[in-house]
Amino acid sequence: PGAGRRGRIESSTPAAIAEAAALLRAGELVGMPTETVYGLAADALDPEAVKKIFAAKGRPADHPLIVHLPSVEHLPQWAAAIPKDALALARAFWPGPLTLILKRTPDVPDEVTGGQDTVGVRVPAHPVALALLRAFDGGLAAPSANRFGRISPTTAAHVHEELGERVAMILDGGACAVGIESTILDFSRDVPEILRPGAITPEDIARVIGRRPRVPGESVAETASARAGQCGDASGLAEAAAPNAAADAAQPAPRVSGALAAHYAPRTPLRLVEPALLADEAAALAGEGSRVAVLAHSTSDPRDARLSWRSLPADPAAYAQGLYASLRALDGVGADLILIEALPGGPGWRAVADRLGRAAVGSGATD
Ligand code: TXA
Ligand code: MG
Repeated sequence: PGAGRRGRIESSTPAAIAEAAALLRAGELVGMPTETVYGLAADALDPEAVKKIFAAKGRPADHPLIVHLPSVEHLPQWAAAIPKDALALARAFWPGPLTLILKRTPDVPDEVTGGQDTVGVRVPAHPVALALLRAFDGGLAAPSANRFGRISPTTAAHVHEELGERVAMILDGGACAVGIESTILDFSRDVPEILRPGAITPEDIARVIGRRPRVPGESVAETASARAGQCGDASGLAEAAAPNAAADAAQPAPRVSGALAAHYAPRTPLRLVEPALLADEAAALAGEGSRVAVLAHSTSDPRDARLSWRSLPADPAAYAQGLYASLRALDGVGADLILIEALPGGPGWRAVADRLGRAAVGSGATD
């Protein structure tokens, strides 16, 4: 019993990978581990299979999907124009957490691109994803394997929590090493532009192509100082989050429907607190009778039994790796409020600050 059961988690043996490839060829959905987060994969050339992704996620149909490829050699089937710099970045960072937005070929279904004339592509750096892509021998459309607006999954069990029997099977590839979604770099217009910060930074990109991509929200002065290699600014959160996110991050998330329902991840209101104030603020709120969960990175656990306290390492890569699992766990303790210790500044924290800023204002951008 169990074999063939929808939504089951399978360890990634060669037989399971072959079965997953066959399910994908038959138009089914498969939960796929990648180095960033788990993806919800479907045959990118099969419009009916791609439509199942939107139904399973509850995601609006005009949100485009990233196509995952077995190797850079597959790029010409999907991208019509491949600028020299884009190819150099693909060769430098693939397999890896960099998605390139390029002009698409006529092969790419509108269901994948949301009707746009561009397509997002990447080669993931996870042995199970690569084995599956090679067995499938084609492009797999795969958004993060969460319900729309929820926290991205970083383990197979999270995918099961999110999607259950909406997927045919889930390949278990362990906990994701990067932990936040890929950097998205738009090459479809004149100047390359970061659409979503991730583990591959503007500095990494500049080292390969000799110019810094545009980073929305970054001031001219910051760009100039970054160009000059002086990256020690102390405003990680304010710089990386959208302007409103930065302003609102110190306020509790509004308790209005819409902000809390579909587009809020986690479901528990979340607030950023300066490190020096964290322990006292948590204790004060607990003293008033609130159930408080805390996500810290430098402030130590006061061992206050009223608090659900979790700590992540004070290193941006290690913090990113544990972030979504920690938010998911704290979201599950039934707290009234999650307090998050505000992040250090600096470019290394940009991608994590982006995710926290968006989660704090409940913009739904974690989808
Ligand atoms: O790390 C990742 O990128 C993960 C793993 C599974 O690969 N995938 C992921 O997919 O985060 P998703 O669908 O959750 O986020 C993809 C983002 C969306 O914000 C979407 O709008 C953007 O990529 N995107 C995809 N194609 C695009 C396009 N042609 N133009 C602009 N944005 C695009
Ligand atoms: Mg997503």
